[in-house]
Amino acid sequence: MSLPMIELNGVGKSFGAHEVLRGVELKIAKSEVVCLIGPSGSGKSTLLRCVNFLEPYDVGDVRIEGRLIGYEDAPDGTRRSMNARKLRDMRREIGMVFQHFNLWPHMTAIGNVAEPLRRVRGLPANEAADRAMAMLTRVGLAAKAHAYPSHLSGGQQQRVAIARALAMQPRLMLFDEPTSALDPELVGEVLEVMKSLASEGMTMLIVTTRWASPPTSPTASPSSTKAASSKRARRATSSITAGSRGCGSSCRRIMTATAFDGAISGR
Ligand SMILES: Nc1ncnc2c1ncn2[C@@H]1O[C@H](COP(=O)(O)OP(=O)(O)O)[C@@H](O)[C@H]1O
Ligand SMILES: [Mg+2]
Repeated sequence: MSLPMIELNGVGKSFGAHEVLRGVELKIAKSEVVCLIGPSGSGKSTLLRCVNFLEPYDVGDVRIEGRLIGYEDAPDGTRRSMNARKLRDMRREIGMVFQHFNLWPHMTAIGNVAEPLRRVRGLPANEAADRAMAMLTRVGLAAKAHAYPSHLSGGQQQRVAIARALAMQPRLMLFDEPTSALDPELVGEVLEVMKSLASEGMTMLIVTTRWASPPTSPTASPSSTKAASSKRARRATSSITAGSRGCGSSCRRIMTATAFDGAISGR
């Protein structure tokens, strides 16, 4: 059996005295699409940032295909920070898309996608531009390659951000409220791109505050719309209605929690 793409065991994280994550257990298989729903402040972004170690977790393990991220366990049982180069290499495998796109305003769409390929992957300019163009084409934005972010709609900017992440050829993608900042009419185009990624087998962990619509599966709890306020995590094995806000129809597994107090699990 292959190792989970993402595995969290007993993960905890505090900011000073404020405990944000406690005992989080989560397993996501390769090609699985998981949507984690919780209200603002419940620790969703912190959880995602622990997965790629943008935020160091305090206790527990975060593993990507079995490999601990951020730390190295020494033979004497102590744990030390991972070598910076090894951490960089692991992070390259993990794409991340943010709520507010985080594009460089002074660069065109193609510049935004090509620049990390040059800086991080070390591709020559022409190869980076070719790959960037291919990624923009994939998200339906070839015609906007030379537009600046200020001349793109929110949905288009988010698609550029997805193209930028995809260009790095990640093994998994993290989405932090990818449609929350969008006008309702622009949500669909971003969800379509996410759906196509899911259908191609990308492993995706999506966090959102939105309960898009009740899952349709008979296995879903009848009170599932109330689940977002539940102390216990609930999960459904079904999908969210196509075109809805939030995770979209690609989610195979939906989990909710008010706080990541250990109730979240990938069981
Ligand atoms: N760098 C930080 N320093 C201090 N507190 C933080 C930091 N990042 C997040 N928090 C706090 O942790 C809690 C969870 O934040 P966050 O993970 O951003 O939640 P969510 O993404 O679910 O809205 C919030 O109370 C937030 O204020
Ligand atoms: Mg957040």
